Amino acid sequence: MKSLVILISGRGSNMLNIARACAEQQWPARVSAVISNEPEAAGLAAARDMGLAIEVVEHRGYATREAFDSALAGRVEAHAPDLVVLAGFMRVLGPGFVDRFAGRLINIHPSLLPSFPGLRTHARALDAGVRVHGATVHFVTPELDAGPIIAQAVVPVRSDDDEASLATRVQASEHVLYPAVVAGIVRDQVSLEGARVRLSPQMRAAFGVSDIVYAD
Ligand code: GAR
Repeated sequence: MKSLVILISGRGSNMLNIARACAEQQWPARVSAVISNEPEAAGLAAARDMGLAIEVVEHRGYATREAFDSALAGRVEAHAPDLVVLAGFMRVLGPGFVDRFAGRLINIHPSLLPSFPGLRTHARALDAGVRVHGATVHFVTPELDAGPIIAQAVVPVRSDDDEASLATRVQASEHVLYPAVVAGIVRDQVSLEGARVRLSPQMRAAFGVSDIVYAD
């Protein structure tokens, strides 16, 4: 059984989709803990209602980013995670944290990276006039919203889209993409070779989802 630790800051819809898929699809994994830096995160209550173990490490309680990262790393490490899943975790993690979990730390970002790292990705995509937008799951490196790309979901931009309508469709694509990627990782279908990600043929074949474009 692999151990998953999921870090959230807010609603936690990606976390919930991953936890549900883990249970329903009988992954060889369990969600050991859901940890939030925000005590009021809606996702925490939802995770508790699902019977998941929840914890709070509130960033405001630490004088420096390094102190917060170190406390968080300790709590994460206590669950001996095979994979640490950032799911709407809105704190930048420093190299101390990222290097400690290198190769077992992944993130989802609401754009087709390397386009639009950072915040307000949907508004920036509309302003730029891109015809395709989407979401990216990647291994985390110390650089913000960067690191080897595992998979992307492509969402066409419609002429009548506004920020809200585009965000809704990108979120829907995230809810397909992220569980599919985590399932692949816990089944050893994803490997990191240097800066490149390799997916097994089984993983590519297993998910016949047309709007997911894999990295290889
Ligand atoms: C998701 O859309 C995720 O891509 C984004 O936060 C949202 C969290 O939603 N993450 C980032 O912007 C990270 N840079 P959720 O809490 O409902 O899963």
